[in-house]
Amino acid sequence: MTDTLTIRRPDDWHLHLRDGAMMRAVLPHTAAHFARAIIMPNLVPPVVTGAQAQGYRDRIMAALPEGMDFTPLMTLYLTEDTDAADVAAAHASGLVKAVKLYPAGATTNSASGVANFDRVRPVLEKMAEIGLPLCVHGEVTEADIDIFDREAVFIDRVLDPIRRSTPGLRVVMEHITTSDAVDYASAQDDTLGATITTHHLVINRNHILAGGIKPHYYCLPVAKREEHRLALRRAATSGDARFFLGTDSAPHTDANKLLPCGCAGCFTAPNTMSILAQVFEQDAALDRLEAFASLNGPAFYGLPVNDTTLTLTRTAPAYPAHIDTEDGPVTVFDPGWPLDWSVT
Ligand code: DOR
Ligand code: ZN
Repeated sequence: MTDTLTIRRPDDWHLHLRDGAMMRAVLPHTAAHFARAIIMPNLVPPVVTGAQAQGYRDRIMAALPEGMDFTPLMTLYLTEDTDAADVAAAHASGLVKAVKLYPAGATTNSASGVANFDRVRPVLEKMAEIGLPLCVHGEVTEADIDIFDREAVFIDRVLDPIRRSTPGLRVVMEHITTSDAVDYASAQDDTLGATITTHHLVINRNHILAGGIKPHYYCLPVAKREEHRLALRRAATSGDARFFLGTDSAPHTDANKLLPCGCAGCFTAPNTMSILAQVFEQDAALDRLEAFASLNGPAFYGLPVNDTTLTLTRTAPAYPAHIDTEDGPVTVFDPGWPLDWSVT
């Protein structure tokens, strides 16, 4: 039995850092383990232009504690008014590594998202030309589509048509939650990647709803049936280069989670690597954790892998149940079982 595991330092290919006091509180937890992260642009107001991304990047770097080594990879929030030339300039300068598509109304702070996909066609064509990836929140938002079907319907109605009409566009299916998404991604060429969160490898929909409602397990896309969770586990632990880690760590204060209409998001930054080591060990795939967390993402984004390492040791880690922020406590995701692996 292995008791230590050293891997290339991992990256997080989907992260919510927020801004202000919340950012100052959560950023050190990611920077402690991850070298880089794709930073989601769903602030209020969203990060739409290159200038706004530069300002946000500067605020992240100013909030990074002295001595920590972390590189934020910035994204732009795609709106129907996004200017293709601004996107291309932000990419050419090295600032922006992806553009994020939120269907209007799909999730937290997505009111500025896209309703009419024809209006973003010039931007998508420019992105295909320059090799800038589109990160997609893959859920339709029509009220008549059941929330548990929204990802599968999105693939048929939106994702596949966009990819067919924009040849060469690099697309990341973000935080996939279904076997439909795994099957779709597995059948595509290397212009398609898919991120998988830590929490979707651990919980299914029963964890949210059975035996009392668990707001801290509520996120979007919502966790699905057990058969889907198992499909995600097989994809993540397969070593297949199309699948890589995007935690979607999404902090909300407990006050905002525990409302009659509570916010969506699981805060997994502090204990993601401990949980993943255990998940991969449970599936006899500890030797493939590095591919999922540290190798496949850089390969998709055309970036070098990190030259530093991260070591995990078989010892029970000590994570707080919640972290304190100036805005109030934020509960850390509880996998529901004791953790065996610590980052050392
Ligand atoms: O659970 C989620 N939380 N899903 C998202 O897509 C957004 C995120 C957030 O920003 O809180
Ligand atoms: Zn997200």
